[in-house]
Amino acid sequence: MDELKINLTDTKGYVEPRDMEAFQHQTTRIISKLEEKSGDPDEFLGWLDLPQQTSREELIEMARTAESFTKDLDTVLIIGIGGSYLGAKAVIEALSPYFGSDKSRPEIVFAGQNIDEDYHHELREWLNDREYGIVVISKSGTTTEPGIAFRIFKEHLEEKKGQQEASRRIIAVTDREKGALRKLTNERGYKSYVIPDDVGGRYSVLTPVGLVPIAMAGYDLHKLLEGAEAMRQRTSSEVEYHNNPAAQYAVMRNALYQKGKAIEILGIYQARLYFFMEWWKQLFGESEGKDHKGIFPSIAQFTTDLHSMGQYIQEGRRILFETILSVEEPRHHLSVPPANDDTDNLNYLSGKRMQEVNAMAEKGTRLAHTDGDVPNMTISIPRIDEYNLGQLIYFFEKACAISGYMLDVEPFNQPGVEAYKTNMFGLLGKPGYEKERQRLMEKLRENGE
Ligand code: PA5
Repeated sequence: MDELKINLTDTKGYVEPRDMEAFQHQTTRIISKLEEKSGDPDEFLGWLDLPQQTSREELIEMARTAESFTKDLDTVLIIGIGGSYLGAKAVIEALSPYFGSDKSRPEIVFAGQNIDEDYHHELREWLNDREYGIVVISKSGTTTEPGIAFRIFKEHLEEKKGQQEASRRIIAVTDREKGALRKLTNERGYKSYVIPDDVGGRYSVLTPVGLVPIAMAGYDLHKLLEGAEAMRQRTSSEVEYHNNPAAQYAVMRNALYQKGKAIEILGIYQARLYFFMEWWKQLFGESEGKDHKGIFPSIAQFTTDLHSMGQYIQEGRRILFETILSVEEPRHHLSVPPANDDTDNLNYLSGKRMQEVNAMAEKGTRLAHTDGDVPNMTISIPRIDEYNLGQLIYFFEKACAISGYMLDVEPFNQPGVEAYKTNMFGLLGKPGYEKERQRLMEKLRENGE
């Protein structure tokens, strides 16, 4: 059975059974509260039902659109940031080959996830010789980073192909009515998809925000949603705590937080999950870091980071706990070859699969870190495929919502994100931000900048 598993053994001794009981009752109440949503879009709870409410027809339509859209293209440029970027990037990276690209699929590249001039310049140069189309994703339709990138690449595509053909090569994923992107989409007649009102950015990977780019990359949307649906059922209010992995994860991280473990490291041993960790980091960081509270989400790619962060994790401040995202079976087989001279003394490993070495590194590290007062949880999946990624996505989303409410913060807003924007707009002289500009310029002068 393709099931996600959670193992809490290496957290023993940190939380008293009686504390756990109180937490368990709390999660039951929270899950029921989540499910009894009022239907008010401002609650941002639409993600809860996406796996069962997204119809087969919608998925088929997206897959067909992707097929015809990419028929004459070798590249699809996805423009978006934050929740309008990370979910698609996470799934596509996890499923794609490490090197080169599968020739039957278009290459997927990203823009607007930063404001790095060199990145965008070099990307534009590279796209000169590519047959590309654009998927631009923004719920608000007004975010600066993807807004700038879309200007640049829309202009580039129009210069290359003419406005009419360029408009055929652009798909927008945005709000039904609001925002500059919706306006332009309607004016230019771009094909478009709607982001539901009741789903916030970081919970939107199972809406067209994630599904359209994943379909462009040629991956199976049905399996992704099937995995998510299996997890929806496993984490519903009808399931008791001991069988609900999302509730267990949420409880344990909060219990550890109350014991002073303020930083969670999500660790992986398969590099293709790197952007999945980035997606997780946004999900928990933006959902929980509020009211001067919250577990700080950090990420580590092992064994690589054992040679950089391993020392701190083993012996630095004891404010850490780890969650390891473990994969039971890799895609390929590769064994350590024997060597006649054995000058490197590695013959004791000869014939062993690299996976076996990796698995022992994972076990050994977990035991070492636990001995070093870093409690560990393990979340494992049998393999990296669409179904298991779907499970993982829904698992973390549900756990994040439960955990946020346990922490007594509002997990679906992000008021703190506005602060940098206000300052950036003030410094750039955006109309309407004159007061901020004056205040910031004075501050910079005081600092001698
Ligand atoms: O989670 C969020 O809400 C944010 O990360 C947004 O997704 C991000 O700021 C991009 O916003 P938009 O889709 O409106 O361009």
